[in-house]
Amino acid sequence: AKDPVSVLVTGAAGQIGYALVPMIARGVMLGPDQPVRLHLLDIPPAAEALNGVKMELIDAAFPLLKGVVATTDVIEACTGVNIAVMVGGFPRKEGMERKDVMSKNVSIYKSQASALEQHAAAGCKVLVVANPANTNALILKEFAPSIPEKNITCLTRLDHNRALGQISERLNVQVSDVKNVIIWGNHSSTQYPDVSHATVKAQHGEKHVRELVADDEWLRGEFITTVQQRGAAIIKARKLSSALSAASSACDHIRDWVLGTPEGTWVSMGVYSDGSYNVPAGLIYSFPVTCRDGEWSIVQGLSIDEFSRKKLDATAEELTEEKALAYSCLS
Ligand code: NAI
Repeated sequence: AKDPVSVLVTGAAGQIGYALVPMIARGVMLGPDQPVRLHLLDIPPAAEALNGVKMELIDAAFPLLKGVVATTDVIEACTGVNIAVMVGGFPRKEGMERKDVMSKNVSIYKSQASALEQHAAAGCKVLVVANPANTNALILKEFAPSIPEKNITCLTRLDHNRALGQISERLNVQVSDVKNVIIWGNHSSTQYPDVSHATVKAQHGEKHVRELVADDEWLRGEFITTVQQRGAAIIKARKLSSALSAASSACDHIRDWVLGTPEGTWVSMGVYSDGSYNVPAGLIYSFPVTCRDGEWSIVQGLSIDEFSRKKLDATAEELTEEKALAYSCLS
């Protein structure tokens, strides 16, 4: 039997946490033959609720679950973890300035970076979900200099999956037959959902989404805004933000990163930019990636037309501003 993998979930008493931990315990994230240990972290006001989650995990008697640590101690939570899913953060409340929210999250991610750096298992892979996801991941990277930058990522897979969903609905095809959409940039409303290279499996080979949709106005207009604004639409409908889809997408992100992407398929991940596609180096930016042997690499050589170029640049610009804002909170 395989040794258990230890997975940290921060913000585990929250909404996404509640949807995510049973998925991990059932093998959705790491596969049906991989035992797991869960490390759950939240803050003291949520300690009782967190313990309730632990009780439910015990009650569910998951065969793959080999132990649960539920704690409000960051060091205890981070010790020995192989995978860290960072869902905890400070939400923006009504009337709060952007800078105040940034400042709270910068201080959270700075201290959690140090705890991970000192106490996580070697080779720990980090996924930041909490918003502002890209910039929280960047702060985590900056304050955990001994964790390789390739091990620190943020979640844009939910946006990627939303784009697949919209294409599948529009074309009335199975979502599993749609692939190679791309989310570029920030996990925010400036993200660029791009179908320039996306395809749908057809009876003989693959067809381009652009040909099948044959309505560039929709692809460059409503499709993009629907994906960009989907989070807000869910809040409006549910009076709560997306949780099951966020949790499921976080599992997709880690599963593909660890176990690899299928041949000929790429996915979107927020990763440290090396300057590919003229995206400024030193930002955490969402790119198309393939994964193999536990490592992602940015898909190279895709053509970028003028429309796309502008969108890639606009979301990079927002991330550059966010980075500056985050740094201004440090001093
Ligand atoms: P929530 O408010 O239900 O849960 C957040 C939890 O984090 C709470 O239990 C809170 O006590 C905890 N927390 C706060 N500070 C913490 C700290 N310093 N250490 C550990 N835990 C801490 O929020 P929800 O709905 O679960 O969302 C979590 C985050 O995920 C939010 O920032 C949200 O904006 C973000 N999000 C990101 C998505 C993405 O695609 N990247 C999609 C959906 C949500």
